[in-house]
Amino acid sequence: MIRTLSQEVLIVGAGVIGLAIARELHLRGMKAVTVLDRGKAGGESSFAAAGMLAVQAETDTTGDFFDLCRASRDAYPDFAAELQSETGVDIELDRSGTLYLAFGDSDVRELRHRADWQKRAGLNVERLSARETRRIEPFVSPDVRESLLFPDDWQVENRRLLTALQTYAARNGLKVLEETECNRLLVKNGRVIGAETPDGKIYSQQTIIAAGAWTSLIGAEGIELPEVRPVRGQIVGFHTAKRLFNHVIYSPRGYIVPRADGRIIAGATVEDAGFDKEVTAAGVELVSGNAFEISPALSGLPIVEKFAGLRPKAADGLPVIGCISCVENLIVSTAHYRNGILLAPLTARLTADLATGDAVPELLRGFGPGRFEGRPEM
Ligand code: GLY
Repeated sequence: MIRTLSQEVLIVGAGVIGLAIARELHLRGMKAVTVLDRGKAGGESSFAAAGMLAVQAETDTTGDFFDLCRASRDAYPDFAAELQSETGVDIELDRSGTLYLAFGDSDVRELRHRADWQKRAGLNVERLSARETRRIEPFVSPDVRESLLFPDDWQVENRRLLTALQTYAARNGLKVLEETECNRLLVKNGRVIGAETPDGKIYSQQTIIAAGAWTSLIGAEGIELPEVRPVRGQIVGFHTAKRLFNHVIYSPRGYIVPRADGRIIAGATVEDAGFDKEVTAAGVELVSGNAFEISPALSGLPIVEKFAGLRPKAADGLPVIGCISCVENLIVSTAHYRNGILLAPLTARLTADLATGDAVPELLRGFGPGRFEGRPEM
């Protein structure tokens, strides 16, 4: 029962973004931090994710978004080491790299284009022949034509990352209130002063919306929250007792992610299904088929899980991180779409910069909610 709480910061959404922001604010000296979640902490897209830190496999060009992704990937080694020492939880940062395979002619064209722009940008990318590819990954399909190796595209175990962040919160007295919906934001004299939940009111000096796909559903009279919509992704988990793969492996149609515990996560559909999180026969067939194209060996393995998550997507597919203009004390940090796990450490730092400073960090220019209101980023 909350009844009334008074906090320095209230964060709406206890996924990887909300929890990472809570930790960062606490590290900067804020002690009274509460994180609300309408369901279980980390129970939505952060849990369903596959944990790739796939800057070079998932972006199509250099630019501001690429810079944001790269800076966040580069933050991971320290982030992982700090979480390990703060919580004892190893988030299994695996720096073996990512392979990107081509099968047909259009795949080959796509790969060569990708290699060209990345080399021009000075990135670490190697082109491998079919033989070289199968030498480092003997279980990929014999139909592979060539591949790219991205040594700097890594992976983490996103569920262990959630455990680490929740452990941090628990050990440091941060309140994580599960099954506690933010019914509406409380606004007084042009300032957000907290939120109303079914259990009572929580007053706060700052409020941060990190509610992912649910951002636009938060009641906020007179405040225009950015439109964020859910994009369903279904994944299938296989299991193997013997380690089959050394890298995260992509094709232009899907990916497989080998985990330390023997699971191999295959993803993912990209579907407009509203808030429906059902796993469908068609989704499993599509994801499995794309995985079998990468490695026919997978078709003999048991399926140990099927899961769906809702990626939060803004109209332009880019994160929305910044202050809302028409009220004071309200920040949004949402819409990370396909890159929530990748962007968590940097988003936490930049959102904390917004919450504790006056200027918009350089890396965030162009990512604020103002871009949908036609106002310049300040
Ligand atoms: N980042 C992988 C996915 O969203 O499926």
